[in-house]
Amino acid sequence: MSRTTAAEAVPAREQWTGQIGFILAALGSAVGLGNIWRFPGVAYENGGGAFLIPYLVALLTAGIPILFLDYAIGHRFRGSAPLAFRRIAGKLGEGVGWFQVMICVFIAIYYTAVLAWASSYFVFSWDLRWGDDPAGFFTGDYLQVAAAPITFDFVPSVLIPLVIMWIVALVVLGAGVVKGVQRANVVFIPLLVIGFLILVIRALFLPGAIDGLTAFFTPDFAALADPSVWIAAYSQIFFSLSVAFGIMVTYASYRRRRVNLTAPGLVVAFGNSSFELLAGIGVFSTLGFFAHQQGIGVGELEGLTGVALSFMTFPAIVSQMPGGEWFGALFFGALVLAGLTSLISILEVVIAAVRDKFGLTRAQVVYGLGGVLAVVSILLFATTSGLTALDTIDNWANNIGIVASAIAVSIVILWVRRAGPELAGHLSVLSTFKVGRIWLALVSVVAPVVLVYMLVSKIVELLTDGYSGYPTAYLGIAGWGSVLLMIVGAVVLTATRWRHDPELFEPWPATATLTTKGARR
Ligand code: ALA
Repeated sequence: MSRTTAAEAVPAREQWTGQIGFILAALGSAVGLGNIWRFPGVAYENGGGAFLIPYLVALLTAGIPILFLDYAIGHRFRGSAPLAFRRIAGKLGEGVGWFQVMICVFIAIYYTAVLAWASSYFVFSWDLRWGDDPAGFFTGDYLQVAAAPITFDFVPSVLIPLVIMWIVALVVLGAGVVKGVQRANVVFIPLLVIGFLILVIRALFLPGAIDGLTAFFTPDFAALADPSVWIAAYSQIFFSLSVAFGIMVTYASYRRRRVNLTAPGLVVAFGNSSFELLAGIGVFSTLGFFAHQQGIGVGELEGLTGVALSFMTFPAIVSQMPGGEWFGALFFGALVLAGLTSLISILEVVIAAVRDKFGLTRAQVVYGLGGVLAVVSILLFATTSGLTALDTIDNWANNIGIVASAIAVSIVILWVRRAGPELAGHLSVLSTFKVGRIWLALVSVVAPVVLVYMLVSKIVELLTDGYSGYPTAYLGIAGWGSVLLMIVGAVVLTATRWRHDPELFEPWPATATLTTKGARR
């Protein structure tokens, strides 16, 4: 039956110690900057309370089904994205896997920069270092943003925390799946939840909090007729749940043979969305307080999204609040903890893939390749042009890269290779919560149709309107150029030789109830 020979097969994988370790790691990956830094602003801009409808639809029709798909692929075919996809769909599948790895490379190098800013602001909170003009402080004193879109002038205030964040992430990863990744999540996730709950409870008791919540939850149902609101909901779910870019495939590959797959998936998905909602409640209660202080409506506030919300508006609020130092430290501390556990998962996608393909040790890949990525991240984001580069790469990696990757998985794995029934069988044999035709229809028809629509509209929009007013030539290099590099990287890496034979392998579990075809080219 099994063709596996110890001498030639890809070596056995490390394993989580149990269900709780896996759930905490998967939750740690999902809960990240996307929840705290991105969700409140995206929800507010896209219909407030009404946004929860497309958000829930996106979660149920694409987020959770694709999360299950990632789990099934990673667990049954026991590999990083390129290895697992190769075992299902040959070289074409491997290419999709490397594309996901390349997305993670790009996300990791800018994600660390936001973490570096958050760690600086954790320190700045204690003496309200941003003074009376937090917006001017952020772009001027702190980032020293230059007018030119590309510079190599280093900013020491960003460089130092950036180096520290890379060292922390690489040391955790270097310690391995159990002693590093799992242990970090077991410590950081409870700390994060406790710290964030304290922050939200404090925010709810601020004067004006109720106005903020009213602004956040008041539904603008007219927004539901706007396709861009639906696109925003699907993008938010993908990034936030860490699906379709290799993370959950990789994390599921470290699970034991007989494990429940779907029930923990539901815990992770609903846990992530609960945290997201909690972040929205905390942030908008705080914004209500800010508007109340100025005697204006929440709708009249500016800087309510992304970078501006966290690094300009929030510090301004902290300065006005009694005990603001603690509040600021809790907020930025939460950003660091949430972001660090996600960054670790993003980098593990790259590390696992390179180890599987080239047969290298964890230490070689973590400190060798990790060191190279750290240098690239420093060159791009510790300079005076870092903010523009970050904003551009973030937009292209998420709205083009991840969406294209989800479509490619559906086409290659479910349409070309027709592995849907086999993967559904795998999930159902193992799990308490079974999946069937509805799941198959969602992952192979509903989600890809919505995603193709999203991708085409986004490409048209970026080509016609540009992005953030940046020069077209710059967007060509930093935005489209990044996607091109992801594709070229995927092609080149697929063409390289495997150190061990990826096909020497038997899918899990070998049960008579499934159509176990195993690896096919
Ligand atoms: N899922 C991670 C986040 O939300 C990547 O930031």
